[in-house]
Amino acid sequence: MRIAVVGSGYVGLVAGACFADLGHDVILVDNDAQKLAALNSGEVPIHEKFLPELLSRHRGKRLTFSGDLTEAARLSSVVFVAVGTPPTERGEADLSYVESVAREISGGIDSYKVIVEKSTVPVYTSEWVRKIILRNGVDPELFDVASNPEFLREGTGITDFLYPDRIVVGCDGERPAQVLREIYAPLTDGTYYKSAGAIPQPDRASLPPRLITTSTKSAELIKHASNAFLALKISFINAVASVCESVGADVNQVVHGVGTDSRIGPRFLNPGIGYGGSCFPKDVMAFRSVARECGYEFRLLDEVVRINDEQRQRFMRKIQSALWTLRGKTLAVLGLAFKGGTDDIRESPAIFLVQSLLQEGSKIRAYDPAAMDRARAVLGSGVTFTNSTYEAAHDADALLILTEWEEFASLDLARLRTQLRYPIVIDGRNLYDPEVMASQGFTYYSIGRPAAHPDGIPTPVVKNGKKA
Ligand code: UGA
Repeated sequence: MRIAVVGSGYVGLVAGACFADLGHDVILVDNDAQKLAALNSGEVPIHEKFLPELLSRHRGKRLTFSGDLTEAARLSSVVFVAVGTPPTERGEADLSYVESVAREISGGIDSYKVIVEKSTVPVYTSEWVRKIILRNGVDPELFDVASNPEFLREGTGITDFLYPDRIVVGCDGERPAQVLREIYAPLTDGTYYKSAGAIPQPDRASLPPRLITTSTKSAELIKHASNAFLALKISFINAVASVCESVGADVNQVVHGVGTDSRIGPRFLNPGIGYGGSCFPKDVMAFRSVARECGYEFRLLDEVVRINDEQRQRFMRKIQSALWTLRGKTLAVLGLAFKGGTDDIRESPAIFLVQSLLQEGSKIRAYDPAAMDRARAVLGSGVTFTNSTYEAAHDADALLILTEWEEFASLDLARLRTQLRYPIVIDGRNLYDPEVMASQGFTYYSIGRPAAHPDGIPTPVVKNGKKA
């Protein structure tokens, strides 16, 4: 099938490369000429596993790049819209990019096409897209608007796309549903997984994925409700972690006990310094606004956001209570990205914490495997960027772990111990076993678990992030 994908951000680029891998002919459209030139010349603009392989496999063959949206729409039977929907000041989704894309597509609709929303959009957006296209004089028989929300995570985007838990197709008629079923057939009938160059199956995938057909509005809501629920799970466990800290319980043990209930499940119950990224913070607020507009005050979501904000503040207090004064202290920081496996620092709790520590007068020596260039642009000269964990730790008063990169979970502890001025580790991602850390000579603080000390000093109970 001939597909146009509009927008070459995380979702558009990954979707375009994956559709090409499924055997479709894809035109990836963007209005940023520089980005297009970079893609054409073989650059890979984001850090995403398997993306370089897929781009070099299909670039110039089944995957081409264009700045001409109207022409790309004319040449395609399906147009996926994957442009940004950034938050407005009031927390609503800004749909002006979606609207201008709908307008431009209209000029290319000279035969039947399906316009598919892939961006995260509020319920009713498909109706607006339809209205805009009609206003631009397109015959209603020549198009349908559908919703096909994307559930991929940054860092594992390619495997999430090709090995999804489910594919949601929201349509208000059989004709567009049939087109979307055809596009995903290589996944739902399993032929992709048997093909020679298929991207390898991740651990958890159960094959083949289910395709769920819903109304367009339901599909739009499924996306917002899914992200809001995942954010809620994280805030819930972070709140539980705070209770654990007050009573001296271990949140990891609690998660194990709670998560083995198959009705709850263990995933997305990792306590930490709060969720970040370009999706959860924006989508929780946008869903809240959508609900309000529809007449429902979704106060539960206010609390999800409040707990998330507070989690960063609690971590700041934890650092203070571990180190006493912060002015003039040198702190090694591991991780700047909003999570492991990505170079994205948007709404990163790590960046927020580094900025707060700089304000307190600390000196920061930072290391991140992928996000340093982006972080440098935001944090500037106040931070010393280093080339490894051990270089960051050199002569530091303490080490902070802020991002859950895999490599931070398997450090050479003996080597780390020799680098630090004081063997203090404050772990915002619970990557280590406190007993192991203490046995290796570290004073170790983490989230929702008692602190551990090398000499076995009784652990102080922490209340509101401060020692009681
Ligand atoms: C999220 C969703 O997981 C995807 O399903 C969705 O498609 C995407 O948003 C989107 O709407 O585009 P993403 O933002 O890439 O994906 O990252 P996640 O892996 O969900 O992590 C989000 C944040 O939550 C990170 O800061 C992460 O560190 C934090 N997190 C995640 C926790 O603190 N604990 C957890 O147990 C899981």
